[in-house]
Amino acid sequence: MVNGKIWKDTDGNPIQAHGGMIARFRDTWYWYGENKGVPNIPGTTRVEPLGVSCYSSDDLLRWENRGVVLPVPEGVAVMERPKVMFVLQTGRYVMWFHADSEDYTFAGCGVAASDSPAGPFHMIHIIHPNRLDSRDMTLFTDKDGKQYLFHSSDYNKTMVISELTEDGTDVTGDYTKILAEQEREAPAVFLTRGTYYMISSGCTGWLPNTALYAQTQHLRSGWKLTGDPMSGPDSRRTFEGQSTWVFQAGEEFFLMLDHWHPYDLQSSGYSILPVIFDEAGTMTIPWQDEWNGV
Ligand code: DGJ
Repeated sequence: MVNGKIWKDTDGNPIQAHGGMIARFRDTWYWYGENKGVPNIPGTTRVEPLGVSCYSSDDLLRWENRGVVLPVPEGVAVMERPKVMFVLQTGRYVMWFHADSEDYTFAGCGVAASDSPAGPFHMIHIIHPNRLDSRDMTLFTDKDGKQYLFHSSDYNKTMVISELTEDGTDVTGDYTKILAEQEREAPAVFLTRGTYYMISSGCTGWLPNTALYAQTQHLRSGWKLTGDPMSGPDSRRTFEGQSTWVFQAGEEFFLMLDHWHPYDLQSSGYSILPVIFDEAGTMTIPWQDEWNGV
């Protein structure tokens, strides 16, 4: 797969899984993302969403289209950044996504669930977590099994960590604001060697900007922006991409980027890059021209 370009599924069709995530469930890799497979609404940087797509793979290279696993709920004009987690307490798969109005002023979260990772997912509700606005978002499962929603709030000025209920479908009411006034979005959160990391972008719409990572020893406090981890040509513009998710395969971590084409969103590209740490825990993400799986 050529990084930065649109990738094809096993039928030879463009993979429509933007703002997505990859996870291993029941010994299979699943990739969920936004299906944007129609032309933009003329003259705008928006498509009518087609729902959340799912693809599956055994090798992270050949992706079989499993179809739309969650259609667009009524009244939702923007359906972005779907993320899926397994919930131990119920044995179900729960999906959260950014649900919005055409002009992004609704700023809420959709929640859906399924008994199978390949869907179908059924809508549960659309909420404003803790009565806050929520735009770009991600999910994170901590080492103790507790699950959290990370969401850009206060008109994208501040990141919020909202604790989720044991069944993963709602917030508990307990939340923390981090990186206040730092204006970060596109969060991708993971834990390795006792440190929590978050890779994020600045807030420039569909246009690339400088990625930064933040880190802390304690999930709910102490987050500090550390630096730009990207290395290689065009690194200050995140190689023309934007973070969406970090996944672990074996001992290694990998970052997924979207390479948005604002006026033809369906042709937006993907890349997957290795996330490397030195002894001190400093992160580097080198550009690679190709993704060859693991
Ligand atoms: C940046 C976000 O990261 C994307 O998911 C999308 O919401 C665009 N903004 C819309 O301008």
